[in-house]
Amino acid sequence: MLKATFMGHSCVLVTDSQYNIIIDPFLTGNPQAKIKAEDIKVDFILVTHGHGDHLGDAIEIAIRNKAVIIAPNELAVYVSKLGAQAHNMHIGGAYNFPFGRVKLTIAHHGSAAGDGLIYTGNPCGFLITMGGKTMYHSGDTGLFYDMKLIGEMNKIDLAFLPIGDNFTMGVDDAIKAVEFLQPKKVVPIHYGTWPLIDTEPEEFATKLKGSKSQVVIISPGESVEA
Ligand code: NI
Ligand code: MN
Repeated sequence: MLKATFMGHSCVLVTDSQYNIIIDPFLTGNPQAKIKAEDIKVDFILVTHGHGDHLGDAIEIAIRNKAVIIAPNELAVYVSKLGAQAHNMHIGGAYNFPFGRVKLTIAHHGSAAGDGLIYTGNPCGFLITMGGKTMYHSGDTGLFYDMKLIGEMNKIDLAFLPIGDNFTMGVDDAIKAVEFLQPKKVVPIHYGTWPLIDTEPEEFATKLKGSKSQVVIISPGESVEA
């Protein structure tokens, strides 16, 4: 069993009822967030890249929970310097953590912290196997053809994909991504947080009607099970 709760924007809290992990914990300053960073209790924190709307409250949550941040090497080095425990990884590599297996995938995007002044290497996506299920969180990315390979090599039960356009895939590219990845369920994220990324999740769902993938539109605070 794997239960994923959408926390707004790109943030997802995942549990197998034993371990709790959070991905891209941007809560402070997130207009969609329903919960405060100080109320988050987790064992691990996964961060796709250094942008403020993803790194978010990761360092504070890590220190308070004595939780480890899992991130691409350069970003892991950055959070370590600021006092958080980190597990450094890089694209293509996987590791078995107590809660499950994490593999870093490519993402076509940037990665910088400290108001964009500190370069934090390459961004990533995460393939997470936990509670007997496989979940894919693409991070911020444009569409890339290797998603087809990710879909061929992994039986994805649940995918979280950005549809907000401007900084990431928009609706039509995300639909192509679903075609490549073939997830059982897909949840659109990274839209509507600000006017600049105000796309329609209903359009995403309508255009995917009849496909093998079930589109699940959830509001912040709501969960989906895989
Ligand atoms: Ni970004
Ligand atoms: Mn972003």
